[in-house]
Amino acid sequence: MIYQLTYTSKALGTISDKDIQDILYNSKVNNDTLKISGCLLFYNHKFYQILEGDEADVLHLFELIKKDERHSEVKIVGTSFTKKRLYKEWGMLYQPINRSFVTEQEIEQFKQNLLLLENFTETSTEAEIWFWREIKKGLLLKEVNSKEKAINR
Ligand SMILES: Cc1cc2nc3c(=O)[nH]c(=O)nc-3n(C[C@H](O)[C@H](O)[C@H](O)COP(=O)(O)O)c2cc1C
Repeated sequence: MIYQLTYTSKALGTISDKDIQDILYNSKVNNDTLKISGCLLFYNHKFYQILEGDEADVLHLFELIKKDERHSEVKIVGTSFTKKRLYKEWGMLYQPINRSFVTEQEIEQFKQNLLLLENFTETSTEAEIWFWREIKKGLLLKEVNSKEKAINR
């Protein structure tokens, strides 16, 4: 059986594009070797990740990730066993940190892509359902916050 683990965490305030690129590069190399697949998402200074593979390998990797100083408040939101991997390829959707370089349109497109992705994904296990639920929560929260800011202006 394939073990799936979903967690969320808060990125370090000073996290840079370079940090993200390093994480991506390391993950690609390590996860391929360990046959761990999944998806890592970075949005509004939060990470959302689902890891899937052999239970011992996933738990061991998660222990390493938890200790990583580039993030904090690492919380497991769901775990499952499944016969079928959700992600055959290791992948990451990436939201640039420096907001002055992204247009509202690009952010909107990013959100649309996310929601589309959810529709194409069979959200059958607990870990998968919670992965999408947390992302949606993150997106909505951001919307509410920016609306409040607009009102208070
Ligand atoms: C949010 C986040 C997600 C990460 N995801 C992975 C991952 O999927 N695979 C991985 O090998 N390292 C990941 N890392 C990096 C690990 O914490 C750690 O730096 C890495 O496993 C060390 O690898 P090394 O000993 O080969 O340098 C992640 C780090 C962060 C902050």
